[in-house]
Amino acid sequence: MKICIVGASGKLGRYMVQHALDRGYEVVGVCREKSVSKLDAFKDKMTIIPGATNDREIIKQAVTGCDGVLTVLVPWGVQQYSSGTAQAVMDYAQPSARLIFSCGWHITRDGKDVYSTTFKVLVSIAAKIGRFFRAVELDDQVEACRRIFESDTKWTVVRGSDLEEGESQGLPVWSQHIGDPILESNKTRRIDFALFMVDALVKDDLIQEVPAIVGCQTPSAVAHSS
Ligand SMILES: NC(=O)c1ccc[n+]([C@@H]2O[C@H](COP(=O)([O-])OP(=O)(O)OC[C@H]3O[C@@H](n4cnc5c(N)ncnc54)[C@H](OP(=O)(O)O)[C@@H]3O)[C@@H](O)[C@H]2O)c1
Repeated sequence: MKICIVGASGKLGRYMVQHALDRGYEVVGVCREKSVSKLDAFKDKMTIIPGATNDREIIKQAVTGCDGVLTVLVPWGVQQYSSGTAQAVMDYAQPSARLIFSCGWHITRDGKDVYSTTFKVLVSIAAKIGRFFRAVELDDQVEACRRIFESDTKWTVVRGSDLEEGESQGLPVWSQHIGDPILESNKTRRIDFALFMVDALVKDDLIQEVPAIVGCQTPSAVAHSS
């Protein structure tokens, strides 16, 4: 299997590179030119294509011939970074390719997610501050996901909970809606978020699903997994 990781140099991206190499996949990574050195540990084991992830020509080159594309959706700047990235991946990946996108719990597809007041306030503040400083465009991550949900590609949008570092605890558990009791602990190891993303490449039951994940050893997961 040949896969592309868009946003390979970030924390989530590097964990995904490692998981993919562990599975024997051929890996192509896209990252900003200034971040190429963050992939030094992998440079002999993967192909690195430097460039902005919303540069359509870069994405076209990177996803050609790939069976799967793992995309770290990030809303940096006010340049439609998320939607530009997602659109390019959907436009240029081969139709049979599995497309896995990362985002947070704030994304909802059917409006049936139930958010705490604290969560809603924090997201609203983050969106306003990000927009004010022209640093983050949270609305554009929402727009990216809206376009993905409308697409007939083989997509999965993985919604990460709050993240922490640490050794792997295993594949996270998931549920369809925020507010489901199994997700209550709201914590996932970043290395396991990456594991879920890579594992989704071969999970047909996740096609056109929007799984919200939580660490498999968190109290809510342990209490409700059965
Ligand atoms: N952080 C959380 O608590 C959290 C919670 C839930 C879900 N998520 C989701 O998890 C995914 C990864 O997020 P993360 O927070 O863990 O960060 P991360 O893995 O470190 O990824 C950040 C990405 O953004 C890129 N980036 C940073 N600054 C940029 C800029 N100014 N312009 C363009 N690209 C820039 C980084 O590339 P460089 O290597 O080039 O800097 C990297 O690819 C995202 O999809 C996020 O929505 C995060």
